[in-house]
Amino acid sequence: MVSKQAPNAVQAAAEGHEHTHGARQRKVVMEVKGITKTYQMGSYQLQVLRGVDLTFDDDDFFAIMGPSGSGKSTLLHLLGLLDVPTSGSVKIDGREASKLSEDELARLRGEKIGFVFQFFHLIPTLSATENVQLPMIFLGVPEEERRKRASELLTMVGLGSRMEHKPSELSGGERQRVAIARALANRPTMLLADEPTGNLDSKSGAEIMKLFIDLHEKKHITMIMVTHDPNIAKYAHKIIRIKDGVIQSIDKT
Ligand SMILES: Nc1ncnc2c1ncn2[C@@H]1O[C@H](COP(=O)(O)OP(=O)(O)OP(=O)(O)O)[C@@H](O)[C@H]1O
Ligand SMILES: [Mg+2]
Repeated sequence: MVSKQAPNAVQAAAEGHEHTHGARQRKVVMEVKGITKTYQMGSYQLQVLRGVDLTFDDDDFFAIMGPSGSGKSTLLHLLGLLDVPTSGSVKIDGREASKLSEDELARLRGEKIGFVFQFFHLIPTLSATENVQLPMIFLGVPEEERRKRASELLTMVGLGSRMEHKPSELSGGERQRVAIARALANRPTMLLADEPTGNLDSKSGAEIMKLFIDLHEKKHITMIMVTHDPNIAKYAHKIIRIKDGVIQSIDKT
């Protein structure tokens, strides 16, 4: 279970599910071991991830960086339980994902994981508040509670006065903030973001990062974001560098 050396807290975290780190008791929220992903392209196999081991604590804030095509989105989708690895283990809250049924997995994903995409992926025909309520409908949250929570979340991301706007009636930065509010709808323990600022100007990007830092510090949400931008990556506490489907390094920022 333990790696050969323990060069950093990530590796040290692999040693046990509960461990002390400074004053606060930290908890492993997700652990992946030896995950590979291979796409079959006709007669040709494309190996995109080649054995990735990572451990995420409830207090972690990671950026994932690497060249285009290195497997960042593929990895993030596996961490978000949006896809399954070709081999290897994905454990969330100590539960092996491959042992869960489709329904159990969907429920776990809905409860534990918030996902933010580069191109927002909002439903264009729904208002901001309806978009945020969608994941709650899926988990059966009663309507009154849904409205209340959506209103609180949109207010938190600074969109209290834009609740009834459709995505086309919002700026890029505002759309991404709706998407973040939606990702937080079911109070996830982890927020995964794939180039969340990739489609935004630097000012809107900085606002999104301020929000992420707040979520991490005040709500102790584990943050994992993919970015190409060193100015965005520096907001994270550690940077995972990936190349050709292999983790090259994990360094503190
Ligand atoms: N569904 C798929 N079928 C086949 N090949 C795929 C599929 N998804 C991704 N790939 C390939 O896997 C490799 C890694 O893709 P991935 O999207 O993870 O890269 P990335 O690091 O996120 O790149 P970028 O920075 O451009 O977003 C790419 O070469 C891509 O062409
Ligand atoms: Mg990508």
